[in-house]
Amino acid sequence: MNKLNVMNNFLNIKPYAPNLGAVITNIDLSIDISDAELKGIRDAFNKFQVLFFQNQSEISPENHIKLGKCFGDLHIHPAAPKMKNFPEIFEINTDKNSKIANGAEDFHSDVSCDIEPPLGTMLQLHVLPECGGDTMFANMYLAYEALSKPMQVFLGGLKASHESEHFYKGRYQNKNEVDRNKEYPSAIHPIIRTHPETGKKAIYVNKFFTTRIEGLADQESKLILDYLFTHIEKTEFQIRYKWNKNDMAFWDNRCTIHKALWDYFPNERKGRRVTIKGSVPY
Ligand code: SIN
Repeated sequence: MNKLNVMNNFLNIKPYAPNLGAVITNIDLSIDISDAELKGIRDAFNKFQVLFFQNQSEISPENHIKLGKCFGDLHIHPAAPKMKNFPEIFEINTDKNSKIANGAEDFHSDVSCDIEPPLGTMLQLHVLPECGGDTMFANMYLAYEALSKPMQVFLGGLKASHESEHFYKGRYQNKNEVDRNKEYPSAIHPIIRTHPETGKKAIYVNKFFTTRIEGLADQESKLILDYLFTHIEKTEFQIRYKWNKNDMAFWDNRCTIHKALWDYFPNERKGRRVTIKGSVPY
């Protein structure tokens, strides 16, 4: 079916851009969703890779967790502080005192350093700056398809290390004994992964976590990773989402990367996210 002709009996789905994303306007995520709606969301998620639910009210942490669980078990972040009583919730909280803004440094796929990295992430923002604070997303199927055939074949046989200690250690407020003695996740994943539901191939490396290509010399590994980091950030694979208060974004970490823009300092941007567990990439 043409991506721009979306028929769905339950959901009003409009493509966000020709290359990635869709907007859904007629579902209230703060109350239980029906099986038919859930199926519609799953189908749209597989087709568009990032969904933006608009016209929402603020979802309580309990209901946010309940909603996330409709799509699978929830992932607990290996390093970020947990919301009191809700370890599944990752709070996005940036203001004039912030030294970091989560997800702002570079394009990434969430927690790709895990052996079973997250399938997807659902983020709702409740407080927005007057302007700025957009999120960029990029389509990793398109990035794969844009490679030459010989490059696809070459990369298809390679795996890369995804590490996190360099990134997580000391990043959050837990700069104490626990943090110093903590073991941070790392994993080796194929550079080209196959999406378990669509069967499509996507590039699976990112600047946050991917440190080395297995089996190559250091210089070869660095050259190819640098090339890939530049390639996956080409503007033609990207969209830029401008948030409305209480929008919920649901992105697929298996075939997209994203980056939060921190261009609004010292203003506030706040929200909560849940992350759904994934499986071992292949
Ligand atoms: C993240 O990387 O999870 C943060 C995304 C955002 O704040 O837009």
